Amino acid sequence: MAQKVQGVVAGVAGAKVTVETITVPDPGPGEALVAVQACGVCHTDLHYREGGISDEFPFLLGHEAAGVVEAVGDGVTDLAPGDFVVLNWRAVCGTCRACRRGEPWYCFDTHNAAQPMTLADGTPLSPALGIGAFAEKTLVHSGQCTKVDPRAGAEVAGLLGCGVMAGIGAAINTGQVGRGDSVAVLGCGGVGDAAIVGAKLAGATTIIAVDVDTRKLEWAQSMGATHVVNARTGDAVESIRELTGGNGADVVIDAVGIPETFRQAFYARDLAGTAVLVGVPTPDLTVELPLIDVFARGGAVKSSWYGDCLPSRDFPMLIDLYLQGRLDLSSFVTETIGLDDVEEAFDKMHDGSVLRSVVVL
Ligand SMILES: NC(=O)c1ccc[n+]([C@@H]2O[C@H](COP(=O)([O-])OP(=O)(O)OC[C@H]3O[C@@H](n4cnc5c(N)ncnc54)[C@H](O)[C@@H]3O)[C@@H](O)[C@H]2O)c1
Ligand SMILES: [Zn+2]
Ligand SMILES: [Zn+2]
Repeated sequence: MAQKVQGVVAGVAGAKVTVETITVPDPGPGEALVAVQACGVCHTDLHYREGGISDEFPFLLGHEAAGVVEAVGDGVTDLAPGDFVVLNWRAVCGTCRACRRGEPWYCFDTHNAAQPMTLADGTPLSPALGIGAFAEKTLVHSGQCTKVDPRAGAEVAGLLGCGVMAGIGAAINTGQVGRGDSVAVLGCGGVGDAAIVGAKLAGATTIIAVDVDTRKLEWAQSMGATHVVNARTGDAVESIRELTGGNGADVVIDAVGIPETFRQAFYARDLAGTAVLVGVPTPDLTVELPLIDVFARGGAVKSSWYGDCLPSRDFPMLIDLYLQGRLDLSSFVTETIGLDDVEEAFDKMHDGSVLRSVVVL
């Protein structure tokens, strides 16, 4: 029978979110019902609330989550009630042209639940990134559930569901950071710090953190940055060049997603270096670059959706590294909060006082 639970809804663009009673259907074919245990507050939730991602209001926010499978629908054979899972927004289809050519991390036809969750009056909700996990329970496609070692707590495991995976993946998958590389990361929130952690895991020896907030730079240093640059008091591009023998970094990761930082990422690369855009721009933003510079500087400018991750490959691997003490996921969790506190968590994200607020249910 469909269940009524509490969930955080963004009803109108720019308005404060509210906790509403929502209806979650029983899982149909290929679907899974998940009891959410923890869900991190990601900047993308705020982008949704502002109408910066789409205008399909109302949204059920939350997409960085872990929990326990409560029920599965017909035809689901690789998942069972009781499984501890991280929810992902890349349930690969296996048959699109990206999947067929062996690059499923670019899957162009990812799966989501077919049935909508609804408000009490029957209005269908758009779940953020096809997840909607600021809710006691959520309905997803079974492929969106990635089983990981249950010894990892939900607060940390859930982080892999979006921001931390996006950041680590921007470094190791998209940027292909290698041993001895120099890396600069612009914007040191949850995503940028994860890129720093990813660069360190991959063996980068110079890791330059750039932010406009000194507290964020201190955190970045504790995560593994070897140098910090305050972009409000210094020139980010010049500083990165100075710290890399005058050349620029091998890989520069823009974890903000505005023209200013994108341009810095483009110019702070060494010749033939790689710029990675993992911050999500709003649709109104444009960037203009001299075409000769695009040509003459060589290298690559890449965007990184979800860190080009393959959840089935990357989530269990990163959880294993965490359990072995080689990946400190817990330092990303600044505070744990309740469903009622999401709006306040957005304010804290704005004033820079948190890396991740994690809703615990
Ligand atoms: N590509 C993906 O798959 C993916 C996944 C998750 C999040 N994101 C995006 O990544 C971005 C970062 O997310 P987050 O959760 O870390 O956000 P956040 O708000 O926690 O962090 C942003 C950081 O950027 C800093 N910053 C702002 N302006 C700056 C500037 N001009 N120069 C340098 N630093 C600046 C802020 O001080 C802050 O530390 C967002 O755009 C988010 O939507 C992308
Ligand atoms: Zn596919
Ligand atoms: Zn996110």
